[in-house]
Amino acid sequence: MYIDILLTYKEIDPEAVMKKNCVVIDTLRATSTIITALANGCPEIVPVRNAAEAFRLKKCNAFKDYLLGGEEEGYNIENFQMGNSPLEYTGDRLKNKGLILCTTNGTKALEKTKLAGTTVICALLNVKTVARWLITRLSDTVICCAGTRGGYSMEDFLTAGRLVGYLKKNRNGISFSDLAATAAIVADNIREKRGGKYSTFETLKNTENGKRLLAAGLEVDIAYCARENIFPLLPVFENGSIKLQKIPPA
Ligand code: MLT
Repeated sequence: MYIDILLTYKEIDPEAVMKKNCVVIDTLRATSTIITALANGCPEIVPVRNAAEAFRLKKCNAFKDYLLGGEEEGYNIENFQMGNSPLEYTGDRLKNKGLILCTTNGTKALEKTKLAGTTVICALLNVKTVARWLITRLSDTVICCAGTRGGYSMEDFLTAGRLVGYLKKNRNGISFSDLAATAAIVADNIREKRGGKYSTFETLKNTENGKRLLAAGLEVDIAYCARENIFPLLPVFENGSIKLQKIPPA
């Protein structure tokens, strides 16, 4: 089993992901939002590339009751019921309601993993559960960071590194690319507790995405997305939609 990391959604191509396990990460904020929506009773999320696709889908009978959520270039989308703040997806609003989600980088990254063996959704909120699931798999794995506008994002690299760290600690016989090994070393220095050199929250605030969210008055979103392992959930992207998959208890 070989673990590698792709740093941006632009690097995801059919050859890179074909038949492999894919772990898609967009810590600020798409995958944090997806995990939160599913944790709060949303049964299904359909990720789409853009708003036009979302409106087209909503016109189909099967999706007419689905809520529209997401953002474009950081802004809420006109005639969408919700934005891309994970905190909007708490409470009863999503209970038994499907969601069509469109975000600038995260849902594009997901879209590009359609040829993968299995694609799962990861953020700091559920990273340990994703590691537990991966430990039971034998096939090669690509950790796909969404990044930002085609560039690298530190917060996604941090989550990828945390995932690699759990894998290193808990299973022998996995080999890691140099990038994956580097991510684990970096992530090991960033922790809220247990003597991390840098705090997770402070680190996220200082990323480019963090600064953008701070400027928009969304520090609460950063604090929320910096929380680790609050949801023991495994969201799986299959046949165009994301649902929770049951995993055996730890
Ligand atoms: C994205 O998919 O690009 C992000 O989740 C953007 C955001 O913070 O809303």
